[in-house]
Amino acid sequence: MSTVIRGGTVVTADLSYKADVLIEDGRIAAIGQGLTGDTVLDASGCLVMPGGIDPHTHLEMPFMGTYSADDFDSGTRAALAGGTTMVVDFALPSPGQGLLDALRMWDNKSGRAHCDYSFHMAVTWWGEQVFDEMQAIVDRGITSFKHFMAYKGALMVNDDELFSSFRRVGDLGGVALVHAENGDVVAELSARLLAEGNTGPEAHAYSRPSQVEGEATNRAIMVADMAGVPLYVVHVSCEDSHEAIRRARAQGKRVWGEPLIQHLTLDESEYFNADWDHAARRVMSPPFRNKLHQDSLWAGLQSGSLSVVATDHCAFTTAQKRTGMGDFTKIPNGTGGLEDRMPMLWTHGVATGRLTPNEFVAVTSTNIAKILGMYPRKGAVLVGSDADLVVWDPEAEKVISAGSQQSAIDYNVFEGQRVKGLPRYVLTRGHVAVNDGMLDSREGHGEFVAREPRGTVNRALSAWKELIAPRPVERSGIPASGV
Ligand code: URP
Ligand code: ZN
Ligand code: ZN
Ligand code: ZN
Repeated sequence: MSTVIRGGTVVTADLSYKADVLIEDGRIAAIGQGLTGDTVLDASGCLVMPGGIDPHTHLEMPFMGTYSADDFDSGTRAALAGGTTMVVDFALPSPGQGLLDALRMWDNKSGRAHCDYSFHMAVTWWGEQVFDEMQAIVDRGITSFKHFMAYKGALMVNDDELFSSFRRVGDLGGVALVHAENGDVVAELSARLLAEGNTGPEAHAYSRPSQVEGEATNRAIMVADMAGVPLYVVHVSCEDSHEAIRRARAQGKRVWGEPLIQHLTLDESEYFNADWDHAARRVMSPPFRNKLHQDSLWAGLQSGSLSVVATDHCAFTTAQKRTGMGDFTKIPNGTGGLEDRMPMLWTHGVATGRLTPNEFVAVTSTNIAKILGMYPRKGAVLVGSDADLVVWDPEAEKVISAGSQQSAIDYNVFEGQRVKGLPRYVLTRGHVAVNDGMLDSREGHGEFVAREPRGTVNRALSAWKELIAPRPVERSGIPASGV
């Protein structure tokens, strides 16, 4: 059975042109004029783009005494409904747990996925077992390792652990990821705020000023540079962190920054809402910021100093959020966004003229696939690439509402926002999962995507590292020591 997407404009990260796209056996078989197939999808008036890739999700993750509410079933349904055809989730060993053991848990959960997926592996503690198992993880096609510089007493790693792990990731040809917030300072500020009677969700924002993020981002960049590893900074929310990344890139360091759609479009005023539930539902780390920080993030996407837009989808129900009533440090951290990332970014990015359609494709898909070592199988409209495609109708509109979302939670942080630009069709390896705007996906269709280590950036860094490696100075004519 073949499918042809007919009459649309193919939009990739670097090119827009009129063409039909033929799909056979889950892959793109031909791109050209007048193609025919068994099934025809009408793309007139639409753009045919690589499906979105969300490089940052937490599905059914054990965290802060509970589990995030969306699992690989509801989470990947939400992804497809919004034009995202692949998610990269975080396998998260609890401190002391082996990496392979954690991976087995994530392998079990992900069997329900409706779209393809991959994993990052978190390094939450350091020891010989972690060092050894990292090789086996890379052999499984997991080439990115995440480090938390926050969540003191739980997931946080210290600088010695960070340096050791970064060096190992560099040697294995992988990418180091960081959640960059100074966890020691956050813990101090949180304790002080609570002691002063600041117990509500607004105190969460006060406990994590932009400086904690800027400091940790700078530190991670310097540690990564010393370790010789490429660095990817997740959920960049502010100018302080963006400035560090911008400067590092201008210096030639291999650093990428990932803002979230939430930080681009929602601001800190959410935490001052008189309704406790409204504010708590938006508690995440880092917190939402003011307009100056938002402008910085948009500028970063426009200028290329920030590379990727993600969601950090980590959804908790209102009931789960309420475990933090009376103590903001117990509100589970995280917000949803998987279904809304693409329409929100199109509406606030492309429709406003901040981003071109090609830049939209780059930051929602192609850049991610390249950084994570799966291009052009993913993130491309090329013959031979997986047919993970979105047929995007730039004129279609809706109002975002929890009542009609795929996510399992009872609210949506973008509730009431009108978006223009929605998927007409979404294909996951050729299977039509959104048909004329209606979700028709299959549980278990999603497959694990193994990724390649030692990409071009790693090879360039290794060549440089080898050139500047410490070497003993060969000296002649020096008397032997002690003589
Ligand atoms: O608040 C957040 N971001 N929750 C998810 C875990 C993380 O830090 O990414
Ligand atoms: Zn994080
Ligand atoms: Zn996260
Ligand atoms: Zn299928």
